[in-house]
Amino acid sequence: MCEENINAAPKRVLSCIQPSGMLTLGNYLGALKNWVAMQEEFDCTFAVADLHAITVRQEPAALRSQIYSTYAILLALGIDPEKNTVFIQSHVPEHTALSWLLSCNTQFGEMSRMTQFKDKSAKHPENVNVGLFSYPVLMAADILLYKPDFVPVGADQKQHLEIARDIAIRFNNKYGDIFTVPEPYIPKAGARIMSLQDPAKKMSKSDDNQNSWVAILDSKDDIIRKFKRAVTDSDAVVRMADDKPGISNLITIYSAVTDKTVAEVEREFEGKGYGDFKLAVGEAVADTLAPIKQRYDEIIKDKKALETLYKEGAQKAEYVARKTYFKAMKKVGFVL
Ligand code: TYM
Repeated sequence: MCEENINAAPKRVLSCIQPSGMLTLGNYLGALKNWVAMQEEFDCTFAVADLHAITVRQEPAALRSQIYSTYAILLALGIDPEKNTVFIQSHVPEHTALSWLLSCNTQFGEMSRMTQFKDKSAKHPENVNVGLFSYPVLMAADILLYKPDFVPVGADQKQHLEIARDIAIRFNNKYGDIFTVPEPYIPKAGARIMSLQDPAKKMSKSDDNQNSWVAILDSKDDIIRKFKRAVTDSDAVVRMADDKPGISNLITIYSAVTDKTVAEVEREFEGKGYGDFKLAVGEAVADTLAPIKQRYDEIIKDKKALETLYKEGAQKAEYVARKTYFKAMKKVGFVL
């Protein structure tokens, strides 16, 4: 290693996850697995994005328990709250405050093009609220406050990251050098895990069909049953192909949890039927998730310990967020 690298501060990473229901295998393979890996090398900040969750209706008691549960899953995955900053978004008021400054520098037209807004407003026509529309601006604030170099996310968040970059560049051009323009960090395998029941759709915890998604906290039996029922095609050959979206999704999942290449997976199951393959995928996923569930069951019992950790996390986060926020306020012309 050259001297320059030894002295260089580690690059920064930021990402968040919504506490809306059970976290899925899609969340794990698309994002959380990378969070765990990145903490070894980077200065990481991770948050439970609870403010984002209320853009769709939430039952208060369920929301509260999901926030605890999501924070506990992050710890159960092995994310170290001492080494990293791990907090709950609503505990750091600079997120909503900066989002106002950014909103006034974001155009209605660019927000209208966001596909997630179009999808969610079609799904909940009775509740197309302003928060749902301006959601990507709050997400830009989440990111820009911490000046990250990388934002590890699944492919579905790419458009939101692009808008966060656009907002940062525009703001910097207008007011001076305030924000770092972050790069998305999207995994090669697992960036888009599809529904087990309809491989044309993303695997999502908001899907009403429980067999379409695997939760990180599902039992081994449930996981295996869901994979056994996964939709495939009729030619019974384990091969990645555009016209085999169901089996391709299962190959992606198997390859991501076993760290085998697609070619290795295809070779391993040459001459074997879908029954064997589905069972192998179910078992590999269950074996990966079992230790996480075991740690989670311990962690969630001790709410006091959790509270200490998320409060410390919020303090560390706010220390950084305040600096960026006040710098932006000053540059825009507010009196401090
Ligand atoms: P959310 O909570 O929907 O998902 C959390 C992370 O999981 C990824 N993901 C997937 N990856 C692969 N396949 C899937 N089926 C799948 N489903 C979800 C998502 O891409 C995401 O990385 N808006 C964000 C939360 C957020 C955020 C932020 C992210 C709020 N502020 C700032 C990064 C930076 C969201 O709703 O993710």
